[in-house]
Amino acid sequence: MTSVITIERHIIEQERRFPAATGALSNILYEIALAAKMIVREVNKAGLVDILGETGTTNVHGEAVRKLDLYAHDVIFKAVDHGGMLCCIASEEEEDVIQIPSQFPSGKYALLYDPLDGSSNIDVNVSIGTIFSIHRKISEQPRGCLEDCLQPGSRQVAAGYVVYGSSTMLVYTTGAGVHGFTLDPSIGEFLLSHEDIRIPTPPQRICSVNDGHYSRWSPGQRRLVDHMKGIDGANPAPFSSRYIGSLVADFHRTLLYGGIFMYPADSKSPQGKLRLLYEAAPLAFIAAQAGGRGSDGQQDILDIQPTSLHQRTPLYLGSREFVELAERFLAAEGEPEAVAQTS
Ligand code: AHG
Ligand code: MN
Ligand code: MN
Repeated sequence: MTSVITIERHIIEQERRFPAATGALSNILYEIALAAKMIVREVNKAGLVDILGETGTTNVHGEAVRKLDLYAHDVIFKAVDHGGMLCCIASEEEEDVIQIPSQFPSGKYALLYDPLDGSSNIDVNVSIGTIFSIHRKISEQPRGCLEDCLQPGSRQVAAGYVVYGSSTMLVYTTGAGVHGFTLDPSIGEFLLSHEDIRIPTPPQRICSVNDGHYSRWSPGQRRLVDHMKGIDGANPAPFSSRYIGSLVADFHRTLLYGGIFMYPADSKSPQGKLRLLYEAAPLAFIAAQAGGRGSDGQQDILDIQPTSLHQRTPLYLGSREFVELAERFLAAEGEPEAVAQTS
């Protein structure tokens, strides 16, 4: 029998590597794994229960909130709110920082999460996900506050995502590599299936972007994608195109195959669409731990000092050489020729 390593065992073994660890971070990761099992149970029968469709409300971003968005938000909140590990919580589905209920002890970490990523794909059975980011409490406040959430991605102590796809996988890092676990529904356990994930080199030449927005892009962004497609005649090996429309699924493929995922700024969304704190930063931490990179087109995502909970950022994520190529094209707004020869 192959050595079966459950996520619980892996987390404990990871924790042993940090003598000062108190188990609080491990407990958060356990609870998120439990919540993921409860979410996937609803996702897998979404067509049979009243979990599809919209709630008729809109969230802080003015987006229609879907029943599964709220279900996932509640399941994760209730899994982590009572254990004494967290000082506060931030969710895509809540405008403000959420306090830990007063009847529960406050802890030394802040959790930020996107409970259900790829909502537009829920009703058509396309992969969706959950993304989370964990920071250490830094404020003097007794029970946590916005300051504990507005930290640069470089200070994350852990980050991860769940992808609800043909199988359900939980991928996380605590800064000691990236590890992937596949849910075995027959025993209800996440089992280690991808130890120490590294973005492959050479990477597959896959470009993942919604080029339906082409007309709204900057000249540099257009030249970049034209170059990747071979349209500018300066790329002997044009990229193939893959775009699922769920960040978690597009990122998961990029992590395992290589390539680049882009959600650029455009004339309609000058800061792009994706949120820094609970989409870009956690995935940039994972990308960096796997040998890749996350950028806003100019700087490393992990260096950005957040100023608001739901702030958006342009996002370039994946194989380091492709993210750096994108940065060169975006920087050389006026000298496309000089850049095109170097890719
Ligand atoms: P969410 O469902 O959490 O709001 O995220 C949706 C995001 C992300 O998953 C995906 O990459 C992007 O929306 C797709 O946006 P477009 O449909 O504009 O391409
Ligand atoms: Mn999302
Ligand atoms: Mn979401």
